[in-house]
Amino acid sequence: MKLTDKELLSMKSKAQIPILTAYTTPIARCVEQAGVSAILVGDTVGMVEMGFSSTRYVTMEHMIYHIGAVRRGAPDTHIIGDMPFNSDLEPDSALRNARLLVEAGADSVKLEGPKYDVIRHLVAQGIPVVGHTGLTPQTAQNFRQVGKDAEDARRLLQDAMGIADAGAFMVVLEHIPDSLAARITAGIPIPTIGIGAGTDCDGQVLVINDAIGMGEAWPPFSRQYAYVGQTIIDATRSYVEQVEARTFK
Ligand code: KIV
Repeated sequence: MKLTDKELLSMKSKAQIPILTAYTTPIARCVEQAGVSAILVGDTVGMVEMGFSSTRYVTMEHMIYHIGAVRRGAPDTHIIGDMPFNSDLEPDSALRNARLLVEAGADSVKLEGPKYDVIRHLVAQGIPVVGHTGLTPQTAQNFRQVGKDAEDARRLLQDAMGIADAGAFMVVLEHIPDSLAARITAGIPIPTIGIGAGTDCDGQVLVINDAIGMGEAWPPFSRQYAYVGQTIIDATRSYVEQVEARTFK
């Protein structure tokens, strides 16, 4: 059953909210079948599926393509579509772009940083918004943990409060100290979804490629539940061997 933004919001402090990313139809099918509360079509697609060195290279066209693919695989799951770099800078253009993501199949959109005016505008126009603070890869200089000193921690707490005040129904907290994530979670009325933010958030989001062990290296805060990359290598080697030995037909 597809959860609405209001149902996800009402899960604050009541249930843990499991979210995974997905970018393609077959993976979306599996993820829906396994039962997640929502799927994030994140702009991480640029790094884990398209070979870019940064999410900054992801475009609206890429996001529309991948959101459509995920919607076809997961018709009954809430889909959060990521607003790509620079697509959400000011309210009117952000609204135009957010509408394109919704047309492609998203139920809500996620945007990085304390863009309160944009969030307010999208929500006023009926587009549910997920905020994102902590490490925000579109503008970060590196992928190190943030919020470690008192001033940075205060700023992130304020950002999360501002994002909630502006009308977001959920907020992602990325790569911040567990204790700060716990403070933010206790201090705001909307669910917090952690990635590298400890166990005290209201939910967790994990990049699917990290979860299934696709790729060569994974963030230290991620977890591998399988090693699908190795399975593909092994299967391919067996195929190559059989063809070369003329035992495959
Ligand atoms: O793009 C993405 O997948 C994300 C998650 C890492 C939260 O923003």
